[in-house]
Amino acid sequence: MTYSFEKGLSFAKQLDDQDALKSFRDRFYLNDGEIYMDGNSLGLCSKDAEACLMRVLGEWKTLGINCWTQTQPSLFLYHDHLGAMMAPLINADPEEVTAHANTTLNIHTALGTFYEPTDKRYKILVDDINFPTDRHAIDGQLRLKGLDPEVCVKVVKSRDGKMICEADFIEAMTEDVALILLPSVLYRSGQLVDMKYITDEAHKRDIIVGWDLCHSIGAVPHDFKAINPDFAVWCTYKYLNGGPGSLAGLYINKKHLSKPSGLPGWHGNVKDRQFELNHKFEKAAHAGGWQSGTQSILSMAPLEGSLKMYAEAGMENIRSKSLHITAYMRFLIEERLTEYGFTIGSPTEDHLRGGHIALEHDDALRINEALKAARVVPDFRFPNVIRLAPAPLYIRYEDVYEMVERIVDIMKERKYEGYENKVHTVA
Ligand SMILES: Cc1ncc(COP(=O)(O)O)c(C=O)c1O
Repeated sequence: MTYSFEKGLSFAKQLDDQDALKSFRDRFYLNDGEIYMDGNSLGLCSKDAEACLMRVLGEWKTLGINCWTQTQPSLFLYHDHLGAMMAPLINADPEEVTAHANTTLNIHTALGTFYEPTDKRYKILVDDINFPTDRHAIDGQLRLKGLDPEVCVKVVKSRDGKMICEADFIEAMTEDVALILLPSVLYRSGQLVDMKYITDEAHKRDIIVGWDLCHSIGAVPHDFKAINPDFAVWCTYKYLNGGPGSLAGLYINKKHLSKPSGLPGWHGNVKDRQFELNHKFEKAAHAGGWQSGTQSILSMAPLEGSLKMYAEAGMENIRSKSLHITAYMRFLIEERLTEYGFTIGSPTEDHLRGGHIALEHDDALRINEALKAARVVPDFRFPNVIRLAPAPLYIRYEDVYEMVERIVDIMKERKYEGYENKVHTVA
């Protein structure tokens, strides 16, 4: 889509006035004067999330062991309750989604389930710019099966180190490929991959397809009824604002619900008979059957509050603001920052863009530090990317305007020169 923007604060304020989601901002905890652009790393805490956490804590306080069953929703089935709440974000059926563990463990679970190598088909197809944990899990699973990752992982290289080209993957789908695991949105550039095209082509060749939705869930709506992947995983602490370490999402296509789980445990048992404590595992025939052991209820509760806000706001409205505000950010960067040597490493077209903008500069690391000192919260990714995510539920157009002005000030005054070229632990 082509957008028409103007420079100046009054235009930003005008956009905020027209913003259909503007009332949500007041439900988040924001620090005065700080501009939080890191919602793609750790989303902010909302009052709704806090209220759910406090409710569940209260249930534990007053009910003790009975909190598992005498609560509404039942904490014993909480993971599936949250799964059903996440299902609309990807247009899946409630029974296809559960909340479980973290993304990495869900990849292990899914690979344990779906990776069934034969002499002829044994390769796992990946890209070389995905977040590393996916690859660590793949290599680990291969080793568990006595296979050599050097032989069994087929890596398709990005042409420019920023984006992946779908056609390169189709070409790499040779008869020895058993499974593909790719990110929906690339964590550095924010490229949104054509998931349907890749999934359809893979299925024509009998290849299992899994997607890592960490950088798209809650920012980009997915239509899994159309894409029809075999499995998907995602974290809930980024755009979904579930809190640090909140439980991850796992989607298993309903055509596979009767498959055995790769990492079974007693919480995946048919619920009515779980407490019969039989040694023979009776896997539940829905995504909850992929549960392992007892999950952290207190790391799920904030997500409940946050998902209620998502249902209220509507995923399509969130995407629509995300596209508009990232396009606005792009406009201001081009207007105000190109003269200081900045470039944009994210796709321009709406259908190729996720929820953040990759701002590139040779001195990105020091500029990132100067930005933090100027009370903007971005994050840095090697080698030269400052990621800026205007989370639609709590970031205003005015914040984007103000952030760009703070960057202008840093560059004009060469404030970044006062910082070391040193990476810090997080962001
Ligand atoms: C694409 C992707 N996958 C996985 C993860 C992290 O996984 P986990 O939830 O296991 O920490 C991230 C974290 O940023 C990510 O960007």
